[in-house]
Amino acid sequence: MKRTTHRLLLFAFTILIFVPFSVSAQPSAWPQTGDRLVDLKACIDYLEKTGNLVRVKSEVDPVHELAGIAKKHEGKKCILFEKVKGSSFPVFMGLLWNRDTVGALFNVPREQVPFIIGAAIGSWRKDKSAFPPEILEKGPANEVVVTRNVNLYDLPAPVHALKDGGPYFDSSVVVVNDPETGMPNISIHRIMITGKDRLSFLIDPGRHLGAYLDVMEKKGKPLPVTINNGVGLAPWLVSSVPGTGPGKANIASHIVGKPIRFIKAQTVDVPAFADAQFVIEAEILPHVRETEGPFAEVTGYYGQQDKRWVMRVKAITHRKNPVFHSLLSGQEVWNAVGFTAEAKIFVTVQQKVPDLKAVYLPPGGCGFYGAVLQLIKSREGVQNDAIQEAFKAFPSLQWVVAVDEDVNIYDPVDVEWAITTRFNAKKGFLILKDQPGHILNPMVEGGLVTKVGVDATAPFPRTPAFERVKFKDVNLEDYVIE
Ligand SMILES: Cc1cc2nc3c(=O)[nH]c(=O)nc-3n(C[C@H](O)[C@H](O)[C@H](O)COP(=O)(O)O)c2cc1C
Repeated sequence: MKRTTHRLLLFAFTILIFVPFSVSAQPSAWPQTGDRLVDLKACIDYLEKTGNLVRVKSEVDPVHELAGIAKKHEGKKCILFEKVKGSSFPVFMGLLWNRDTVGALFNVPREQVPFIIGAAIGSWRKDKSAFPPEILEKGPANEVVVTRNVNLYDLPAPVHALKDGGPYFDSSVVVVNDPETGMPNISIHRIMITGKDRLSFLIDPGRHLGAYLDVMEKKGKPLPVTINNGVGLAPWLVSSVPGTGPGKANIASHIVGKPIRFIKAQTVDVPAFADAQFVIEAEILPHVRETEGPFAEVTGYYGQQDKRWVMRVKAITHRKNPVFHSLLSGQEVWNAVGFTAEAKIFVTVQQKVPDLKAVYLPPGGCGFYGAVLQLIKSREGVQNDAIQEAFKAFPSLQWVVAVDEDVNIYDPVDVEWAITTRFNAKKGFLILKDQPGHILNPMVEGGLVTKVGVDATAPFPRTPAFERVKFKDVNLEDYVIE
């Protein structure tokens, strides 16, 4: 009897968790979120209304001081710097540094956010023609147009960490057209301001932007680009979903249930986000490389200085009263990468290993290099398949731990408990030697790193020795306790 009840509960819970994926044939309007997933201003208003925003009223220096104050708020409420020295525009930070806030913006518990993104990936894969993008002549992002004497230093781009090489756009979405198909692709890149109309930036190996640039450099031509600052949360998040290419903006449309709006740029033939706060129109110069970095990176170390790609700015457009969006390297980036990688790993691995129930990329792995997989094992060995598939689905991973459904993957103590009581070092290690890794991690040498999978699951079928202790679930409100 007990066993049946347990199975029923497990089934109900599984249905609850998988619902977003099972509705994936339908484009999914995410309910009751208004404009807050596509419009940063609406998002900030919502944060303020719900007590999730603090305002810094004092004037702050964008060089080091602003980030210093932000660091003290990391993981707490979002922060709006009203007066930034040398600029007439405010700066907003912290959108991603608290998973509960992101959950509230999506109107779901924090654990459900990757499932919403995953559902949108699933629904986009099924119907790539839904939500064709709207390209408008005018939109909020080009209410003000500056094409002469452009000066990037008018913007409040902060210098974050003490050894950073300069002010950065670190949370802006780059749009470029595939030179062969004309399809726009979106991705986030760290971009350093090096002059009034000049930028240098980083392209990691394997990025679409790098491939498009190769094509244009062979022709000796510049690659037109828009840099979109302050785009809504949904398009911002999906712009770093790994391995989905030029479909990314469309995945955002599947999240919000309507097309993401674009505008024509003034000076380059590539679209911009209609609802962005600022748009920088530029071209990437062929065969030109200039100094970029150092920059405080996702790893907690500095990304090193080097000669990198260069953009020349042709125009800046913005809203009448724009807010500059920046992010603090650390928890914000871990969550940004974590949410999208969890979604991608889940939808990809679950197709091959249906026993997979949830995925979490914890902060200790920088939201990038470590994953915990939760499985409802249907046979012995399935955990090793899941670990191997996870490494394939997100090649930046360096370690993966597999646990059972009775382990809380969001609680590091519970995961350590599973490692302590269910991992047998004699046979539970999976070592994958010299695999491709992420270049920003200092343990990656020559692009390669050795990876480890840890099987912290109980044997299948579960023996009595692995029955986890349970206590009666009581409601404390039923008792007088002083
Ligand atoms: C905050 C943040 C910063 C990023 N910075 C960079 C960067 O500087 N260079 C880079 O190549 N990728 C960077 N990425 C990752 C890419 O934006 C991401 O992998 C994207 O999906 C690449 O697009 P593609 O697959 O179409 O090439 C960043 C991601 C985030 C979330």
